[in-house]
Amino acid sequence: MSETLENLLNETRQFPPPAEFAAAANLTESAYAEARADRLAFWERQAHRLSWAKEWDQVLDWSNPPFAKWFVGGQLNVAYNCLDRHIEAGRGDKVAIHFEGEPGDTRTITYADLHRSVCQAANALTDLGVVAGDRVAIYLPMIPEAAVAMLACARIGATHSVVFGGFSADALAGRIDDASAKIVITADGGFRRGKPSGLKSIVDEAVARTPSIEKVLVVQRTGQDIEWNSKLDLWWHETVETAPAEHEAQAFDAEQPLFILYTSGTTAKPKGILHTSGGYLTQASFTHHAVFDLKPDSDVYWCTADIGWVTGHSYIVYGPLSNGATQVMYEGTPDTPHRGRFWEIVQKYGVTILYTAPTAIRTFMKWGDDIPAQFDLSSLRLLGSVGEPINPEAWMWYREKIGGGTTPVVDTWWQTETGAIMISPLPGVTAAKPGSAMRPLPGITADVVDDQANSVPNGGGGYLVLHEPWPSMLRTIWGDDNRFKETYWSRFEGMYFAGDGAKKDSDGDLWLLGRVDDVMLVSGHNISTTEVESALVSHPKVAEAAVVGATDPTTGQAIVAFTIPRGGVETEGEAGEALIQELRNHVAKTLGPIAKPRQIMLVAELPKTRSGKIMRRLLRDVAENRSLGDVTTLQDSTVMDLISSGLNSGK
Ligand code: WT7
Repeated sequence: MSETLENLLNETRQFPPPAEFAAAANLTESAYAEARADRLAFWERQAHRLSWAKEWDQVLDWSNPPFAKWFVGGQLNVAYNCLDRHIEAGRGDKVAIHFEGEPGDTRTITYADLHRSVCQAANALTDLGVVAGDRVAIYLPMIPEAAVAMLACARIGATHSVVFGGFSADALAGRIDDASAKIVITADGGFRRGKPSGLKSIVDEAVARTPSIEKVLVVQRTGQDIEWNSKLDLWWHETVETAPAEHEAQAFDAEQPLFILYTSGTTAKPKGILHTSGGYLTQASFTHHAVFDLKPDSDVYWCTADIGWVTGHSYIVYGPLSNGATQVMYEGTPDTPHRGRFWEIVQKYGVTILYTAPTAIRTFMKWGDDIPAQFDLSSLRLLGSVGEPINPEAWMWYREKIGGGTTPVVDTWWQTETGAIMISPLPGVTAAKPGSAMRPLPGITADVVDDQANSVPNGGGGYLVLHEPWPSMLRTIWGDDNRFKETYWSRFEGMYFAGDGAKKDSDGDLWLLGRVDDVMLVSGHNISTTEVESALVSHPKVAEAAVVGATDPTTGQAIVAFTIPRGGVETEGEAGEALIQELRNHVAKTLGPIAKPRQIMLVAELPKTRSGKIMRRLLRDVAENRSLGDVTTLQDSTVMDLISSGLNSGK
């Protein structure tokens, strides 16, 4: 990747924090020096953010790499740290969750309410025979019971495996089997795009072939008709809501497994990423405090992710609740019943901190500036982004149109495997550059290396690696220690290989370039799909773009771009042809002639996974005129028909 293009390095805009923000910030510049001076002592101080039943004897045991143990000998209860200790400190009446259902129903849940529900669920699960170490599958919509179920497992030392509510019966059955889960917690359905969508029917199909499941616990959310299997099924309201509300939390070992979360990867069997308790909660809590500058008494925090992704685990459940935050939880989609729904929620609850994904931000750009402009967004003081590289233009739009041109924007890089944010600006410290995740957080050591594992100099590009184990690191892949070693620790000796390409600019700040599989080789030059996409999105007529490399007889690979024009842009006939030429020239001018796309197609939608990542694999199939591969993880399966049918006109 040494020949990567230089465009991102030319981004010169930089936005220091507002003075008042910096003056009141949770972390100051000195945190970096403190962590550098003694990394383990730094993490030990962060672990003291939590209440431990027993102190650890050793901060880190790295005697058997890559298998790390943090806070060895320490004992704590994760749910106690998220609930009881806030109540004991007199904060039981504080709102933990403002729940907003898609149809407009709301619930206000205090820490005392949440504690009561979690204790009931812990007692109910215990009655059903769940003991510490057992696995419990959770397949729920974005409703408060999802957080209750997770915390109830944590409270009794059981390991939860949350499966995103949009996954198929096959995917659910595979995950239940892999972990031999004993119980699955689900709902009749959830509300999506104005309709009740079924979950229980999918669970029925899955459990018909998963012998490990003993009981199915069903939350009534939509009231839709469902099949009832009296041998397996139990209603949540008859089981949990009638259980005793007293439950004493027992302390577990710092390395007690807390959850398994499956990442799909591109082709192979999903990997069950295993996270444990003490180190995970330490880093989720610390990063939520540091990166979101959370002030529990005044902030209203909203992370728009689904609980089925790691973002929901770390930044809806464990980070915010361990910090005593008040947060918004929203069940539905951003365009139901109208395209201003998110901004209406920000206005209604006075949201101060918003954490969302680039794919959502680009969608809002496409829908037009006039929509957020209709709402009062002045409560916002900090914006965050996660999930993909954020194009500089999308970053600028987010800051200007949502943040009123003043809020810091934190672009947070991390993975299911890292458990918590690893690379991000500190909002009260860093002068952020649009599109850069900037620097590793205090206590984290990241670098960019070349093929031979040499650190690249400033201005160079290569592979992102992490040098030292961190508290919320995955401990293994469930049931497959070898695959854990192979996948993450074998590419470069002694380093964690994240699978992402990255660049260091002349100041040493980091620019993430997407998965290394998404780098194209055009006439011997490495070009990252992210760079070409950012160049396209920087054109005023473009809302979103996805770029792939297609086999080409002359250049090896050629650049093919799928582009969504902004609302109101003329795309029919000659106007469309002219726009395509204009965009090809724009890329050539921005990045250099080598990056000029061979072909640009104007499309209405892009194929995305349910977590919002572009499925470049399918676009490569289209670009190379192949029949489409597996589309089962697509968020909207009609998108590919739309794209394929529009193709002939697009060249
Ligand atoms: C991959 C991890 C972390 C929670 C959501 C995704 C990409 C994530 C960024 C960012 C550039 C990013 C990487 C990473 N990614 N955040 N701020 N800038 N890329 O979790 O599904 O495990 O995906 O998402 O490629 O490896 P995940």
